[in-house]
Amino acid sequence: MSLLFAAAVLGYLLGAIPFGYLVARAKGVNIFEVGSKSPGATNVRRTLGPAAGNLVFALDVLKGALAACWALHAHSSVTLNAAALGLPALGSVDIAGTSWYPLGAAGLVGALLGHSFSCFTKFRGGKGVATGAGGVLVLVPIAGGIGALLWGATFYATRYVSLASMLAALSLPLSTWALGRPGWLVGVTTLIALFVIYRHRENCRRLLAGTENRFAKKQRPST
Ligand code: G3P
Repeated sequence: MSLLFAAAVLGYLLGAIPFGYLVARAKGVNIFEVGSKSPGATNVRRTLGPAAGNLVFALDVLKGALAACWALHAHSSVTLNAAALGLPALGSVDIAGTSWYPLGAAGLVGALLGHSFSCFTKFRGGKGVATGAGGVLVLVPIAGGIGALLWGATFYATRYVSLASMLAALSLPLSTWALGRPGWLVGVTTLIALFVIYRHRENCRRLLAGTENRFAKKQRPST
């Protein structure tokens, strides 16, 4: 089994942990049956309030970051090779010269698939925004930071989480390319962006019809 495949499978299993479903179930709610029917942090917050939503958001970000954590070694310029790791027992698997960086990307792709098509919830799942954000912040931190800023600005201006999420996702390949990252990584972030937008297809229909869920503006306390 190639290391890339192993990282993707590990990422899938991490991503498949259905935190949104579990947190909602602990409160007696089947999140697949309420609101947008998504087990993502947005729907949990909408249904069960900020504390539950924030918890799910943090856990989903964390699992994406953990799935991609192999890339942390790349940031410290460590190159994976069997001899340095003392892993001759891997036998036929030749990992000499393989960078940790693609392992992080494979882990993140696996986590996104796990989150969206979880084997623990009959292959249903969320839209991959929080999990993707966690992984991208590890993999391409500056692009992730730009995406987060764009998300915040769009949400502040429109109160649509879905629109903010899709614009942030779209910014990833552009920032990754502008930062001069390798072409394969631009390709991976492009696939992630397209995947996130595909997962928002119902939201797109609602946005076009003017019926998308919108978070109310916070009321200022009257003086
Ligand atoms: O991260 C998901 C968000 O962009 C939309 O969630 O529940 O409104 O479909 P929801």
